[in-house]
Amino acid sequence: MLSCEEEYTTTPYNFQTPVGFVQPTIPADNPMTIEGVELGRKLFYDPILSKNNVQACADCHVQDFGFTDDGLAFSTGVDGLQGNRNAMAIINLAWGSSFFWDGRATSLENQIYGPVTNPLEMNISWLEVEDKLNANNTYKDLFKNAFNIDQIDSVHVSKAIAQFLRTLVSGNSKFDKFVRQEVSLTAAELNGLNIYTTERGDCFHCHTLTNGLGTDNTFKNNGLDDDGSMTDLGRYMVTGNINDRGKFKVPTLRNIELTAPYMHDSRFATLADVVDHYDQGGVASSTVDPLMKHVQGSTNPGLNLTAQDKLDLIEFLKTLTDDDFKTNPAFSHP
Ligand code: HEC
Ligand code: HEC
Repeated sequence: MLSCEEEYTTTPYNFQTPVGFVQPTIPADNPMTIEGVELGRKLFYDPILSKNNVQACADCHVQDFGFTDDGLAFSTGVDGLQGNRNAMAIINLAWGSSFFWDGRATSLENQIYGPVTNPLEMNISWLEVEDKLNANNTYKDLFKNAFNIDQIDSVHVSKAIAQFLRTLVSGNSKFDKFVRQEVSLTAAELNGLNIYTTERGDCFHCHTLTNGLGTDNTFKNNGLDDDGSMTDLGRYMVTGNINDRGKFKVPTLRNIELTAPYMHDSRFATLADVVDHYDQGGVASSTVDPLMKHVQGSTNPGLNLTAQDKLDLIEFLKTLTDDDFKTNPAFSHP
């Protein structure tokens, strides 16, 4: 532990913005440091943040699967209760502005308050977490080194984890190497890219790649349900605005090959199912996005992709897999 005379210093974390990405905004009140990131990483993998010490963040957010729950539709919390939404990928969230499928958290720091106390997830009070951490000398030292505090509190737990989550950057997929002109794509992948980035498939408007992210960071209704069959109202639950019924955060498509099943309710098991959904045009509703131009019942329903086109689109989506992200030792269990 530092004595009073010693000067408190931290080492700034050198955040690398991948080529082709815009600069992220790191909050001024939580600058990234080596000490903070390493502490956040330890906390992310430590079940100490849950009731009875049985579940860590990393149990539902697994590196091999783009930090989603390994193939599960719905995750099981500490008490064996199941959630009702698919565990989201944790990829390039340094560029995010709202978090969760409905965007109810407006910063990563705020987001972290959710799972810890959620009865369907880690189900513990912050007072209990703080007591456990304050009774742990290793954590006492680590928080002192990262934040110069003697009493650990929830604010600094969330700050540390947020710092770690911001380091989870994926920008070295085959697609990125193609953009950097280091590799070429196959004919099939190029056809898939063409479908993705033109009116043929029109994926790019929502899953924007020109910003590097694979999402435009908005909320949209991509035609999963008609008005009568929407069970999860998504963004509406946050805003109370009827125009937001059935809208969900546009997820990144980076590492999408690793993060099955798909959609907030895990309704699609495979990328082929997803592509079929868009090829059929989706379902009309009062809030379906105008970019879903080929909804069922419209004058031009369906994208009319050929069987080969659909396979090629999937081949392209697989170029967004980033093996360096999947295996980066800095992201794994410390
Ligand atoms: C029991 C499984 C479970 C645990 C444990 C869990 N999560 Fe999650 N996580 C989820 C689910 C499910 C969602 C989506 C919830 C929703 O939208 O309502 C989610 C969403 C998120 C998101 C939002 C991503 C985005 O793109 O908006 C982040 C970030 C996240 N979790 C981080 C964490 C952290 C940090 C912890 C530990 C403090 C944690 N999670 C613990 C299941 C879990
Ligand atoms: C109007 C905007 C929009 C368009 C156009 C669009 N998407 Fe989506 N996409 C979304 C939204 C919103 C979601 C999440 C929906 C949900 O879970 O309720 C999503 C989800 C997905 C998912 C699942 C992601 C996950 O993590 O579960 C995949 C894969 C996907 N889209 C691929 C595509 C492809 C391929 C195209 C083009 C053929 C496309 N999208 C066109 C908005 C769009």
